[in-house]
Amino acid sequence: MMSRRALFTSGLAAASLHAARRTYTWAEIDRILARGDVKGKLSKDDLPTPALILELDAFEANVKKMAEYVKSRGRALRPHAKTHKCPEIANYLIRAGASGACAAKISEAEALAAGGVTGLLITTATIGKNKIERAVALTRKRPETILSVDNAQNVRDLNEAAGAAKVKFNVAIDLHVGNRTGILPLAPAVSLGEVIQGMPNLKLAGLQAYAGHASHTIGFENRRRVSQEAMAPAVETRRMLEQKGIASPLLSAGSTGTYNIDTAIDGITELQPGSFIFMDVDYNRIGGQSGDVYGDFQNSLFVVTTVVSKPKDEMAIVDGGLKAFSTDKPFPPQWRSGSDLPYAFAGDEHGRLTLNEGKRVSVGDRLEFIIPHCDPSVNLYDRLYAVRGGHVEAVWRIAARGMSQ
Ligand SMILES: Cc1ncc(COP(=O)(O)O)c(C=O)c1O
Repeated sequence: MMSRRALFTSGLAAASLHAARRTYTWAEIDRILARGDVKGKLSKDDLPTPALILELDAFEANVKKMAEYVKSRGRALRPHAKTHKCPEIANYLIRAGASGACAAKISEAEALAAGGVTGLLITTATIGKNKIERAVALTRKRPETILSVDNAQNVRDLNEAAGAAKVKFNVAIDLHVGNRTGILPLAPAVSLGEVIQGMPNLKLAGLQAYAGHASHTIGFENRRRVSQEAMAPAVETRRMLEQKGIASPLLSAGSTGTYNIDTAIDGITELQPGSFIFMDVDYNRIGGQSGDVYGDFQNSLFVVTTVVSKPKDEMAIVDGGLKAFSTDKPFPPQWRSGSDLPYAFAGDEHGRLTLNEGKRVSVGDRLEFIIPHCDPSVNLYDRLYAVRGGHVEAVWRIAARGMSQ
């Protein structure tokens, strides 16, 4: 009798012989993965759609460019993992020279740590008993972890929990330099630094300052002005702390849009960009130093869809809709091969393409799209297919998908 494995293998061989575009189910892909190295065994066309794919050549070039640039400016790089939520990617970045990874929340940090990621900086304050207990457990496992704080009561809670558990928390003061979290810079932040200094179970790692409004400011000169204005109080806060004898070795800041602005600001020690590894329609639009398109980093992340219906000559429906792409931006996904194939959301599961004379597509065609906004789109998928030259080289689990606690 044929073993189950042999039966399966012969089944796959038959499938690939008889139907080039059969596409595998997830279970079949998992069985291919379970047999070891996926290289050469899966092509992009085998993937069930909608599928999230990462073009490795572009991804690797983006990582190399950012790592080399930041290093050449004498700064450290701790990319934000909120973008990819994937330990394999965080570890790749660390191998490329990153000092660790930022995580948005404790649950994201836990998933990264479980995947072997070191040097975590959690950029949102850890509030509440349950999350503080989890921070204790994480710190036991990874003592170098840094927690952001922006509130004196939270600082006292962390100190008490650390004392009871006999651990020491590293903390960074989160500065309000944008539209989100953080304590006001200058005097309020310095007072919090003094509170931390008096806590036996806390160690001040430094400051973190994220200015989201600067990162997407359109036009390079505008962006430079907005970022410099946002960062000036952060740099001054660091100086004021040090003047009081409170060491603040870290000032972690910056983003994909401001990497070449913030690395020129004295006092910023570390960059925490996220989107540069993937890019998206949103970032393409911010404009670069030499034009309207921000071309410093390449688009490496795409959603592959299939044309599943053609109700009329001038209309085609693909199988990727509101559940396949982020919807927080006022613009739709963009066809990878050009912008002359307008996409409109057509409900949860579908997208509608308006065809013109020059562009005809058929049912069964596979079309790839650049995502409007990478972070929330990645969070819609369980797995990322890393491809090169049309072949899948690896399948990575988006292990922190849904980990927004
Ligand atoms: C705290 C923090 N740091 C860094 C980033 C990375 O920004 P970007 O993806 O624009 O590079 C983000 C993104 O939202 C963030 O929230």
